[in-house]
Amino acid sequence: MFGTYVTLDLQILGQRHKDIKNGLSVPPKMTPSQLWHMAIKPRWCLKMLSTKRHSFRNIQGHVSDAQDLSSLSVWTQKQFDEKLSWDDVEWIKQKWGGPLILKGIMDEQDAQLAVKSGADAIVVSNHGGRQLDGARSAISVLPEIVDAVGNDIEIHMDSGIRSGQDALKAVALGATGVYIGRSYLYGLGAMGEQGVELALDIIRNEMDITMAFCGERKITGMNRKHLYL
Ligand SMILES: Cc1cc2nc3c(=O)[nH]c(=O)nc-3n(C[C@H](O)[C@H](O)[C@H](O)COP(=O)(O)O)c2cc1C
Repeated sequence: MFGTYVTLDLQILGQRHKDIKNGLSVPPKMTPSQLWHMAIKPRWCLKMLSTKRHSFRNIQGHVSDAQDLSSLSVWTQKQFDEKLSWDDVEWIKQKWGGPLILKGIMDEQDAQLAVKSGADAIVVSNHGGRQLDGARSAISVLPEIVDAVGNDIEIHMDSGIRSGQDALKAVALGATGVYIGRSYLYGLGAMGEQGVELALDIIRNEMDITMAFCGERKITGMNRKHLYL
């Protein structure tokens, strides 16, 4: 489904221990460890120097306070809406008029409120485990949400999909679509565009093989009977 996504689980930024440990920042800061990693990968560095410079074209040039990566980062930090409410979601739906997809639903009650808001689809997601330490996994809450609102709204899922089998498990539990975040980013980091294609090929192949072993030719045939629950 194409439409506007509203992320519901990012009113504030979670405490991201790995980002702190790895010194992740925008723009990147050159720490001794990062300099060392660059020094031992000269081929990668040379390739990076010749790649196209990318920018956030949908923001830069439209938002006056976001001229470069540094000011863009400051501007982005200010966009988190701590007061986001279900009334706001309904307002967005009315203003937008097109399909609205709500991302970050993790329990039945919120799923029911999403249906009430007029949204067209929800993404069952714990934000890839990046927001709240100790939150349940998306795959574990998915069946409860499918049982609660599966007839009323389209249900998608992300967070933790690393293989074709992971994607199929979500589909078998009732998701009509799944997304990957880091799985393709790992490919991108390692081999650029080719790496993304390879990551997608691996996942597609795993799905194919798993469906064959399940005796299914069509993905729509996957359901809970294929899983040990
Ligand atoms: C580097 C990175 C940046 C992300 N930025 C956003 C974001 O701006 N908005 C959002 O809704 N989700 C964001 N996400 C979360 C993804 O949309 C998605 O929910 C998550 O990556 C899925 O989990 P997975 O990485 O295990 O597949 C980001 C994820 C990563 C890895």
